Amino acid sequence: MTEIRAVKGTRDLLPDEIGVWHRLETAAHDLFARYGYREIRTPVFEETQLFARGIGTETDVVSKEMYTFEDRDEQRTSLTLRPEATAGIVRAVIENNLTNTDPALKVYAMGPMFRRERPQKGRYRQFHQVDVEAFGMAAPSMDVEVIELALEFLKACGVTEFELVLNSVGDSACRPAYVEQLRAALRTHASELSADSLRRTETNPLRVLDSKAPEEQALIATLPRIGDHLCDPCREHFDEVRRQLDLLGIGYRLDHRLVRGLDYYVKTTFEVTSGALGAQNSLLGGGRYDGLVKALGGPDVPGIGFAVGMERLALAMPKAAAERRSDVFLAVLSPAALDDAIRLQRSLRQAGVAALMDHEGRSFKSKMKMADKLGVRFVAIRGEDEIRKGVWSLRDMTRSSQEDVVEARVLDHIKEKRNG
Ligand code: HAM
Repeated sequence: MTEIRAVKGTRDLLPDEIGVWHRLETAAHDLFARYGYREIRTPVFEETQLFARGIGTETDVVSKEMYTFEDRDEQRTSLTLRPEATAGIVRAVIENNLTNTDPALKVYAMGPMFRRERPQKGRYRQFHQVDVEAFGMAAPSMDVEVIELALEFLKACGVTEFELVLNSVGDSACRPAYVEQLRAALRTHASELSADSLRRTETNPLRVLDSKAPEEQALIATLPRIGDHLCDPCREHFDEVRRQLDLLGIGYRLDHRLVRGLDYYVKTTFEVTSGALGAQNSLLGGGRYDGLVKALGGPDVPGIGFAVGMERLALAMPKAAAERRSDVFLAVLSPAALDDAIRLQRSLRQAGVAALMDHEGRSFKSKMKMADKLGVRFVAIRGEDEIRKGVWSLRDMTRSSQEDVVEARVLDHIKEKRNG
């Protein structure tokens, strides 16, 4: 029979690597709460039109990468596994009137996202994001707070080497005129463009700036820049964001090509990259999306947020020392000690001590090997000798010492010493 394997681009998170995920999840819960964010959990699939309207039909994400399928209902409703979290959260905010009751709504989410990209290190078809969204706040100081939170989150996870990249993509007042100029410039170079870029010149010229094709880079460098075409309000907003970043001592690099791969952005866009990651070096990305809630049928409230790729963050995080998987391992060396061990194991666990035993009657040597692998602090040994004396022989694996402890004292002894 052929072996059934994980689907290409998906991966198992194995028990040996879960520790780093728990650490980053805990850091997110703790830190985001300090900034006033509360968790929201939305479904992993939504109606396809939510993403088409929210993210934009000409983006790679919507045009090439979505996992879309028909439901079994009469209308054959088109459903899609979410490729990102923002659109679903905006849908939930509108549907539940969340910004009516909280005009300064701050939410975060964590979970799997799905994009059919070419898999490689740091790029998967099922990946996970930590996503942060703030609604109802249009001031530049909110952009700065969100960027600061993103960087503090990375630091809380032990990541110190990264670069903040910043841009402003304008808004509906100034971007259309810029996009026309960009289109005109691209048309004059039509013969030098790839088929993708040629199509995008007509449908969504900003996306050409995302192009990674080496042969297009020189040409792209000559194109008009959005920064030279911002309207006064966008220019002032961006200047104030930069002033406040300076105020907080947050360094950044400006990149006029940082238009991001999703159409909902206006004004500030940002990304954080890490050299430690290789080709897929974007740890997180985000920006402002002031028109999105309204475009999806909600009130005219501004929004801003970012998402961190959890696989990439886990890759960039320092490796922790091997974790201790149990406090005590019970080594039963005589069948007559089995009942004592079962009872002791239960009372240890009920008292908050992590305890394990060998259920298979292995040799003393292999029991010690198991204890070693688990990284336990104590091995509690009971054989004929110990039964006769009414004790457990407690081996302290850290101190390499061993002493007899009377049965009634074992629990207290371990509780006193386990953290010493
Ligand atoms: P994004 O830049 O598409 O933004 O994705 C954010 C992060 O998700 C990336 O920086 C990367 O770390 C991770 N990521 C994306 N695709 C993959 C993949 N195939 N494999 C592994 N990791 C990946 C968004 O998704 C926006 N919704 C962010 C946002 C929130 N903007 C405003 N609010």
